[in-house]
Amino acid sequence: MTVIATESLSKRYPRVTALDRLSMDIGPGVTGLVGANGAGKSTLIKILLGLSPTTEGRAAVLGLDVATSGGEIRERVGYMPEHDCLPPDVSATEFVVHMARMSGLPPAAARERTADTLRHVGLYEERYRPIGGYSTGMKQRVKLAQALVHDPQLVFLDEPTNGLDPVGRDEMLGLIRRVHTDFGISVLVTSHLLGELERTCDHVVVIDGGKLLRSSSTTDFTQTTTTLAVEVTDSDEHPDGTGALRKALQGRGVATQDDGGGLPGAGHTVLLEAESEETYDLVRDVVADLGLGLVRMEQRRHHIAEVFRSNDEQGAQGEPDAGGATASEHAAARAGTAAAAEKTQTAAAEQMGGGRDAR
Ligand SMILES: Nc1ncnc2c1ncn2[C@@H]1O[C@H](COP(=O)(O)OP(=O)(O)O)[C@@H](O)[C@H]1O
Ligand SMILES: [Mg+2]
Repeated sequence: MTVIATESLSKRYPRVTALDRLSMDIGPGVTGLVGANGAGKSTLIKILLGLSPTTEGRAAVLGLDVATSGGEIRERVGYMPEHDCLPPDVSATEFVVHMARMSGLPPAAARERTADTLRHVGLYEERYRPIGGYSTGMKQRVKLAQALVHDPQLVFLDEPTNGLDPVGRDEMLGLIRRVHTDFGISVLVTSHLLGELERTCDHVVVIDGGKLLRSSSTTDFTQTTTTLAVEVTDSDEHPDGTGALRKALQGRGVATQDDGGGLPGAGHTVLLEAESEETYDLVRDVVADLGLGLVRMEQRRHHIAEVFRSNDEQGAQGEPDAGGATASEHAAARAGTAAAAEKTQTAAAEQMGGGRDAR
């Protein structure tokens, strides 16, 4: 089943091509739309809502043509805009009831649905306070609640984690996942952060400069590799357990690398190529011989951000290339993800810095 379909969709403003012959099919579930600032994400959402005309090509949402059925689409779809758009002097309850009424719900149903959705987004206690006094996280939740209140089949969430700290971001991503798992609503969620959607989304679409770079299921993006990540404890005898393990493995003819991926725990993880089952046994025996504790031994998955690292960098790390990303993807991603290539903190590493607007 196709929820969103676009066919050679282009949107040109006088001075910029916001979308460039975009063709894609999106099914039910949670889909991430990822791209640097200026990539065309918000433009695409406005077109899909039937609010902005296309220059060329076609798009359909829930089988309805965006050019002719905008009203019907907006009845069935919820929309959480990117920018702050909330009236400061009314409470969350008043605002969300108003939006529910605008969507055609009768007064009693509007009040009931408002209470339910505000509870779902975790705003129940504060629901009678004026929105003006809310934190950014609370405002994002009000925006999410009004997108859900009329019980849509599909929601478009435009950068819902903007302005949130890491904890707030995780909470919001958890809420978004539950919009689908608890209510069966399909979700299209945008982000300029490559990495943050991989735990939340079933499918990820990456656009750059209005062009489609890649559309695939999250598991295809993050295929397991033959790389084994091993983490051990330190002991009195071996205060640097990781170093001792690396040396012992090298003594047994196993080549190892450090986890230089800029990921949490980097430096405490030893990576090695697991050619066969025997490698697992060998690691277990070596760890036992050293008298260390084995914290973790797992097949490594790619992170989405790694898929967009440059070829040279992949080569330098000795990592196998991920999931068949093409050179042009790497090139395009390199241009758009200067920050992603830097192996800093996870969040910073995943930030698709410097979009077209910034270039
Ligand atoms: N109304 C508009 N008029 C002219 N240019 C626009 C308009 N809206 C967006 N753009 C341009 O289109 C491009 C895509 O913008 P947008 O869809 O907002 O990107 P994103 O949401 O991915 O950050 C940008 O270069 C932006 O400056
Ligand atoms: Mg945007």
